[in-house]
Amino acid sequence: MKSFYIETFGCQMNAHDSEKVVGTLVERGYTQVERPEDAELVLYNTCSIRDKAEQKVFHRLQQFKRDTGKGKVFGVLGCVAQQEGEKIFERAPHVSLVAGSASYTKLPEMLIQLETGDRRVTGLSLDTDQTFDTPFTRRDNPHRAYITIIEGCDKSCAYCVVPFTRGPERSRTSESVMREAATLAEAGYTEIQLLGQNVNSYRDPSSAGWDFANLLARTGEVPGIRSVRFTTSHPRDFVSDIVDAIDRNEALCNHVHLPVQSGSTSVLKKMQRQYTRDDYLRRIEWMKSAKRDIAITTDIIVGFPGETECDFQETMRLIDEIEYESMFIFKYSKRPNTPALQYEDHIPEEEKTRRLMVLQERQRAIQLRRNAAYVGKTEHVHVEGYNMATAQWIGRTSQHKTLNFIDPDLAAPAEGRTLVGTYLDVLVTRAGPNSLAGERAQ
Ligand code: SAH
Ligand code: SF4
Ligand code: F3S
Repeated sequence: MKSFYIETFGCQMNAHDSEKVVGTLVERGYTQVERPEDAELVLYNTCSIRDKAEQKVFHRLQQFKRDTGKGKVFGVLGCVAQQEGEKIFERAPHVSLVAGSASYTKLPEMLIQLETGDRRVTGLSLDTDQTFDTPFTRRDNPHRAYITIIEGCDKSCAYCVVPFTRGPERSRTSESVMREAATLAEAGYTEIQLLGQNVNSYRDPSSAGWDFANLLARTGEVPGIRSVRFTTSHPRDFVSDIVDAIDRNEALCNHVHLPVQSGSTSVLKKMQRQYTRDDYLRRIEWMKSAKRDIAITTDIIVGFPGETECDFQETMRLIDEIEYESMFIFKYSKRPNTPALQYEDHIPEEEKTRRLMVLQERQRAIQLRRNAAYVGKTEHVHVEGYNMATAQWIGRTSQHKTLNFIDPDLAAPAEGRTLVGTYLDVLVTRAGPNSLAGERAQ
């Protein structure tokens, strides 16, 4: 059993976990293949944030009828694995491995168990103070690298499964994070993205005792690192030192994703978010009064139990007031084990859809207006790729905007020549609601 296939669902934490899992497998002599049909070991790294996400893995597992799945070993990793545990063996008897992210440090041992023919291997304990740091991480992108700084979550937002699927918060030492950043810079990476479910509650467990703002500032000073991003910030723990750090160092991207979830203080209270609308607006004010033009993005949940039309209108007013650069809007989804299950006043699905669409439409108009203001300006981008269908290079601004562009001198990647991975100036000539377009500045 030496070839494997892995498919990853969910957030960037999961994407990066998969990079570490792949590295661990390759280190043990496994080869990664692109199609599940060709693999002896088939792994799904799963997400459980909403019901739809959870269902995906069961669909995948059912896609393999007895004959095509014969001789293969199946493993379910990640948040659904942690949440459902051994029940997965009942629902999908051809699965042999079920392990949550808090157990990945034991992955080498679990692999040995599988290799020696064990057909019921589990890693489900959340009782850990360890983080999964491995020197074998196989990164998918040669220019941009993820670094996990904190795992787990100690908040208890009433709708959210993460505290149950990822366990308690564990921060890495600042020394280990800085060592990884320096190693990445030496290997040619120029962009780093610091990851955690709540990066703001980062606390250096070593005697250095750095907080997140300090860690962020120092990462931006690593020679060779030109952009540093971070996700996700919980508003309750977001401090003005973070804004000051962004103001002081251009390498720190001027983009903050600060999920508000709702504009109504009473909904926020039921959500157990631990901040009010006014607390949140104070944080926005810090960013709006910064020297740099900080792009603010957010997540919103519509149709949380008990959300009245009046609460919803407060969210509408909030987005008009803040004018976010972009946002993700989700319909509330009931999740196992979560405190919100106790609420009875659930909103009908059609009403959730209506609110989602109303919000989407309003936000689309805001984005169109905001993006139009960039036309005629020159923006500095990190080139992330090339889109063959549109024959444009794909650039990303410090504010995390997509800026597609043409370069008359290099219309497409040619033998040995590419713009991917470089930083350059682009003149914005057009704006849509979700992206900008332009041409390379001469
Ligand atoms: N740790 C991050 C985000 C975690 S999940 C944070 O605290 O902000 C990403 C987003 O999914 C959340 O911001 C929230 O908007 C959404 N989400 C989480 N649970 C959900 C649920 N049960 N139903 C709908 N959306 C949900
Ligand atoms: Fe979930 Fe809240 Fe933790 Fe974010 S902070 S992962 S929404 S419990
Ligand atoms: Fe999903 Fe788990 Fe991330 S539930 S969003 S993969 S933390």
